[in-house]
Amino acid sequence: MPFERPRGTNDHGPEEMGRRRAVESILRDTAHRFGFREIATPTIESLELFTAKSGPGIVKELYEFTDKGGRQIALRPEFTASVVRFYLSELRNLPKPVKVFSVGNVFRYEEPQKGRYREFTQFNAEVIGAPALPGDAEVIALAIACLRAVGVKEVHARVGHIGMLRSFLKVPPEDQAKVLHWLDKRDFPALAQELARLGLSSLEPVLREYVELKGGPEVLDRGAKLLGGGGAEAFESLRKLADRLRAYGIQHVTFDLGVVRGLDYYTGMVFEIDSPNLGAEKQVMGGGAYTLAELFGGDPVPQTGFAFGLDRIVMAAEAEGVKLPIPRLDCYVVPIGEPLQPKALEVLRRLREAGVSADIDLLGRGPSKNLDYANAIKARFAVLVGEAESNKGVVALKDLDSGKQEEVRLDALVDRVRA
Ligand code: HAM
Repeated sequence: MPFERPRGTNDHGPEEMGRRRAVESILRDTAHRFGFREIATPTIESLELFTAKSGPGIVKELYEFTDKGGRQIALRPEFTASVVRFYLSELRNLPKPVKVFSVGNVFRYEEPQKGRYREFTQFNAEVIGAPALPGDAEVIALAIACLRAVGVKEVHARVGHIGMLRSFLKVPPEDQAKVLHWLDKRDFPALAQELARLGLSSLEPVLREYVELKGGPEVLDRGAKLLGGGGAEAFESLRKLADRLRAYGIQHVTFDLGVVRGLDYYTGMVFEIDSPNLGAEKQVMGGGAYTLAELFGGDPVPQTGFAFGLDRIVMAAEAEGVKLPIPRLDCYVVPIGEPLQPKALEVLRRLREAGVSADIDLLGRGPSKNLDYANAIKARFAVLVGEAESNKGVVALKDLDSGKQEEVRLDALVDRVRA
């Protein structure tokens, strides 16, 4: 094998691509149903866009390079920073709230394993300019509707609030980021070291207990007590959020005060959805409320959003045996003998021009090999063009699922296939 693909990247064959496109189109349709509109941003951005919030430490997780003009460039590791940049330069002139989504590939220099890649696809949605409560409820409702529309059922959604931890940890933002990082990773020895460095070792047992709090509304009272009554406003906002979600038809919200999120920009509600079928990399979606616009020099504006890992939703759907609407070739046209080739090509042309997907042999194979091929590519029908039939103005239409064959008049073929 002369060349291998780079570590952590994937090739996608036709069957898998069919599943990926089916999921992608369900997600797009669902976002449109919720009033979101699609936007696109570049795959490359200036490196600074991603270091502005996270500091130079983030660079080791990025694909970055200096271009021929000496500019420092990064392949995007996510969409949110790009969407906010675009919002500040142009989208803020749109009527509020701005509800947008994007689909595309993102790149992270991670240690690859099953479900964790260096290039993967995200479906990202953001609401900018809606007050926190309705904005948060709308994005959570969209995320859940997306999974329902795909048909993935075995998922756990968990909602937390990073603002409570942030207000509890009264240390400069860089130190806060480090503490939250170790909490997110549940790396308690590293957390203990960091807290000791900050002279906050006494907080360790509180934080360890706090991030394990998960369940119904009672969890919020226990969390408030643990934090010594701090963050009351945030706890109250989560209660209101659960009420609002009920009106969206989402009856049970699992609160999880341990949702810390790996990215630094979250300031409010945070949420994640897992598929327990996926093993170690089970998080299919992550999101929350954040404040990047101010950091990028804009006016304060509420922002909330999420991103699905498309690769992981497809894996979750496969694991649950979900039947995805994958397009199949409608007709494979088979000339019965070489002299019928022109007639078969004419039938092919008619089908294609009418918008029916149709294909024909390019290798000079005989009828039986052609039928094997049509079955192998899972075509719905074989259209057999024989001499006797052709003289009568008909073709033989074979249903490749049932094996049934019938004579169909050429001028009725398109309608019959569509039916
Ligand atoms: P994130 O949690 O970093 O959030 O990524 C979102 C999703 O992308 C994850 O839940 C996971 O399904 C998928 N994902 C992450 N890393 C990998 C990987 N290495 N391989 C395969 N899939 C992966 C964000 O990116 C935020 N920008 C989401 C957001 C939007 N927050 C607010 N708005």
